[in-house]
Amino acid sequence: MSERFTPPERVLSEEVVTGFHLATVRAAQATIDLLGSGNKYEVDRVAVVALREALNGVNVDGLVLVGEGEKDEAPMLHIGETFGTGSGPSVDIAVDPVDGTRLAGENLPGSVAVLAVAERGALFDIGPAHYMEKLVTGKAGSELSLDLSLTENLSRLASALSKPISDIVVAVQDRPRNARYISEALAAGARVDRFADGDVERCLRAARPNSDIDLLVGIGGAPEGILTAAAVRALGGVMQGRLVPQSRREAGRVRDAGLDTGRALALEELCSRDSWLFLTAITDCRVGGEGILRGVHRDGDVIVTTSWIVGAGIHPLILVKRNTP
Ligand code: FBP
Repeated sequence: MSERFTPPERVLSEEVVTGFHLATVRAAQATIDLLGSGNKYEVDRVAVVALREALNGVNVDGLVLVGEGEKDEAPMLHIGETFGTGSGPSVDIAVDPVDGTRLAGENLPGSVAVLAVAERGALFDIGPAHYMEKLVTGKAGSELSLDLSLTENLSRLASALSKPISDIVVAVQDRPRNARYISEALAAGARVDRFADGDVERCLRAARPNSDIDLLVGIGGAPEGILTAAAVRALGGVMQGRLVPQSRREAGRVRDAGLDTGRALALEELCSRDSWLFLTAITDCRVGGEGILRGVHRDGDVIVTTSWIVGAGIHPLILVKRNTP
């Protein structure tokens, strides 16, 4: 673990990677005195302010393609907001300064500051969509599909992994809209990890081989789906997503934007070219394979953050940053 690294050629320059990394670090650092405060809105607000300020120093011509916050009326980085110094590559980002605001407010594991970066035009534009049905698994699950039943998907995954369905762990966000996935997974004999919040962290775990989660299914946030797609592409995992509006208003807006809600979108559509994911743990979290990433904390006067970065040319990498305020 170190504070610096040299990325290989052909990827984002070291300076740009360092700039994006700093943005999620700043967001996580900003929340430190609010962890466990019970005030998830203030957690989100301070992270948004810190992340936006850091983004403006990155040497790119940047555009926020996918933001987060509108559905919860939370503070947000607005869709269409531009950032960066204007020099360097033209990139789009999907960003969530805090995925798992309630988790951070209650100081529970699984809250992260996260942003995905890709060349302009490479990330799927979800427009006004808030919710997405997701299927995420490791590379062994290439024969799985949202167009198949969960029972069939579990059977295919069990064969691909050469283990019984009873050893397969399926993560499903614990929401009434996801009850049918939970009952079908249990009826098929799989084990279910019901999680309350923070589907980016769960999706990343599901996308890694030999992780504690084999598959994630169910309906969660659409912005989180694009963040996940960027990471899954970089990790070589498997993902499909389908826009599934959860209210008449959302359905109308999605239809007016010309977005297709019937079709399962392939990973290549959700993220069509090289991508990078920058994630800093706000509370302790796992991304699969690397054990626990410790949440932001103090060591004497120093604020310590742990980040996880993956991208074209960057194998999953853990960076620990120690900052004196
Ligand atoms: P926030 O941190 O933005 O509140 O999101 C938490 C989260 O659990 C996401 O990880 C997930 O995709 C989304 O909420 C699901 O939305 P909802 O809470 O409306 O079911």
